[in-house]
Amino acid sequence: MTDQTKNWIEKDKKQLHPVYHPKSHANPLVIEKGEGVWLHLTDGRKILDGMAGLWNVNAGYGREELAKAAYDQMMNLAFTSNFSGMTNLPSIQLAEKLAGFAYEGLNSTFFTSGGSEANDSAFKTARYYWKRKGKPTKYKVIARKGAYHGVTMSATFATGLEKYHTMFGPAVDGFAHIPAPNPYRYEGDIKPGETVGQAAARALEEAILREGADTVAAFIAEPVMGVGGVIIPPDDYFPLARQICDKYEVLLIADEVITGFGRTGEWFALKHWNIKPDILSFAKAITSGYAQLGGIQISDEIRETMESAADTEAYMHGYTYSGHAMACAVGLKNIEIMERENFPQRARDLGKRLLDGLKSLSEFSFVGDVRGLGLVCGVEIVSNKETKAADPAMTMKIFKAAEANGLRTRPLGNTLAFSPPISINEDEVDEIVKRLGAAMDGIG
Ligand SMILES: Cc1ncc(COP(=O)(O)O)c(C=O)c1O
Repeated sequence: MTDQTKNWIEKDKKQLHPVYHPKSHANPLVIEKGEGVWLHLTDGRKILDGMAGLWNVNAGYGREELAKAAYDQMMNLAFTSNFSGMTNLPSIQLAEKLAGFAYEGLNSTFFTSGGSEANDSAFKTARYYWKRKGKPTKYKVIARKGAYHGVTMSATFATGLEKYHTMFGPAVDGFAHIPAPNPYRYEGDIKPGETVGQAAARALEEAILREGADTVAAFIAEPVMGVGGVIIPPDDYFPLARQICDKYEVLLIADEVITGFGRTGEWFALKHWNIKPDILSFAKAITSGYAQLGGIQISDEIRETMESAADTEAYMHGYTYSGHAMACAVGLKNIEIMERENFPQRARDLGKRLLDGLKSLSEFSFVGDVRGLGLVCGVEIVSNKETKAADPAMTMKIFKAAEANGLRTRPLGNTLAFSPPISINEDEVDEIVKRLGAAMDGIG
């Protein structure tokens, strides 16, 4: 490490970083430039970003068109309030573009600055809806173990990863967790003859009955669980979950903060199973990380119900940066790029190449499972393939060795995640596999 980089790291200690132990500064990579899928470090190293930042830089780094969209909009009008009585052109145009874009019948958008705020907005909107429907006791949310929904207080306790709760309790009331539909290691009970998808859907129904259907407002789920270890649900799960939600009048909130905008090979991931949510949360890839933007979309039925509210029942919810003009202009340009370059198709084609490549590493004794959907993949590391005993220590070792080989992945418990920019090319996909394989070779 160069003296200059050491100096940057020393100065960096003035920052409190997200999601780390305050005492271990963890020698961060100091990144000064991004180009395509590559990150350039201050010490001269070049790293392939196998995670597209935090699953979001889908168009890759250094896109002039996006920089220009931001510049032009900032020069024209960086910001105006979107609170009642004012609006701006980019937010109008983006909401118009998004109407029906993800799912038919989801035509209304509320903008936030990111995914946690989007989920918070989803929960509040679900409560607002049920109050308007004359069912104010429906306020609870059912989520899954292993889910990650963000870090606002409500998103924290919707999240099903205990380490995010430990230092922030007491818990926000009204969140219950059920097992995730994990085909490799399902944690719930399976009745004879049941598939994992059926068992996990039954867990939803049982939770609704246990909590009382008249108290449950919504079920929230990531179509592909990201931070929880890249869990791809079995095909029967979401159609069953949709039916159960309908049966008990529970809104389905799809948290597509990772899966939205092409990542899984469809523009939005519940399309894989031909169902649609009542509320959709999105963020990250809408701007490919070039600006902070997220939001929710709601069904026409929810919109109409909200419109029926009395004068005293305004939607008293909103952020200074809801509908931020510059961020929306970047979002519009980014969607234009994603459509022009057909990101869902790229994610399918390059995702297959990546998954095939990663599967070729299954011969290593510690590779327990390799899975993926589109361009999001997970490699689960175990100490014993028969018992499937998780091996987070080995996962960290491989992660570090890969980083030393110039590949950035992300250790999530005992799973290494891969979610590179969708702009990646075939050679770069092969490079991910080669560098990971070399890292495993050095260890195994
Ligand atoms: C599925 C999911 N939902 C919500 C969030 C939170 O989004 P943000 O960090 O933009 O608040 C994330 C972030 O990784 C996520 O993966």
